[in-house]
Amino acid sequence: MVVLRRDPPPVDLVAAIAELRRQRQAVIIAHYYQEAAIQDIADFVGDSLQMARWAAATAAPVIVVCGVHFMAETAKILAMDRIVVIPDREAGCSLADSAPAEAFRDFVAAHPGHRVVTYVNSSAAVKALSDICCTSSNAVAVVASIPRDQPVIFAPDRYLGDWVARQTGRPLVLWQGSCEVHERFSAEALRGLQRQHPGAITLAHPECPAAVLALADVVGSTRRLLEAVAQGPERATWIVATEPGIVHQMRRVRPQGTFLLAPAEARNDSPQGGCSHCNECPHMKRHTLEKLWRCLRDLAPRIELDPELAARARLPIERMLAIG
Ligand code: 13P
Ligand code: SF4
Repeated sequence: MVVLRRDPPPVDLVAAIAELRRQRQAVIIAHYYQEAAIQDIADFVGDSLQMARWAAATAAPVIVVCGVHFMAETAKILAMDRIVVIPDREAGCSLADSAPAEAFRDFVAAHPGHRVVTYVNSSAAVKALSDICCTSSNAVAVVASIPRDQPVIFAPDRYLGDWVARQTGRPLVLWQGSCEVHERFSAEALRGLQRQHPGAITLAHPECPAAVLALADVVGSTRRLLEAVAQGPERATWIVATEPGIVHQMRRVRPQGTFLLAPAEARNDSPQGGCSHCNECPHMKRHTLEKLWRCLRDLAPRIELDPELAARARLPIERMLAIG
């Protein structure tokens, strides 16, 4: 058996990353679900809408996306002339995977006359089949921007789509995709936690099932949930029904707050009940400081896109960015 030996990483990874970033004139854009050390070293930390805006706005020749693959792809679509890299190419997304382009093309063809609204958690090929993109920050505004007499397909997240349909009072044709992390939050276990902490404020991401959202005081994108904490009482107790990476920023804005993770359904390895690790997005958590360092050093793995496909995918993203 051949054993491949990799050169060891520097002892001070943070300093080495900072130096490479300077040499490469790179910007590091990270999502709130990244591990704390990556959030701390990033130039920008935000939700998927902010990440897209920063990618569109920066003039840096190298953009490092510490998020999942569709986020890096969106950055590349908006910055085709730049180098876009991702520390671990395998950082996928169950929502994006739930809508293969060929099947989605057939779905759209089966609903003639429908406007196609696609959550950014989707591949470039699916975006290219869409009229307008959205994130959880602006999904309600995007759907509301479409004339009421116009039928709408919403893809790929059925839970976000169902929530947007209720917020806008519009029937939406939903693609039946879901997030493997958020769909596991348990309404029953959440009710139990709320009973134990009667004064707690519950925050939930709209990728959660409707029964969980019905128990939440605030429903919104990661940025919206963070804003709710920043605007809330200093010493409140918060129950967080989204990926726990965001709690790093919540503790920053409310150091005296108490943050409890909403319980998730048991995985096979946890038959007794919910466990906090079940809430972690295994894709987001693929990135590490070491992979980030290697990625800056090698300028790889790179996101490469067919220019024609990128041009078609760019249009619905730009329409979304114009809405806000
Ligand atoms: P946000 O746009 O709220 O950051 O959500 C992205 C995501 O992947 C949630 O699971
Ligand atoms: Fe995709 Fe869910 Fe992970 Fe978000 S939390 S990146 S939707 S798998």
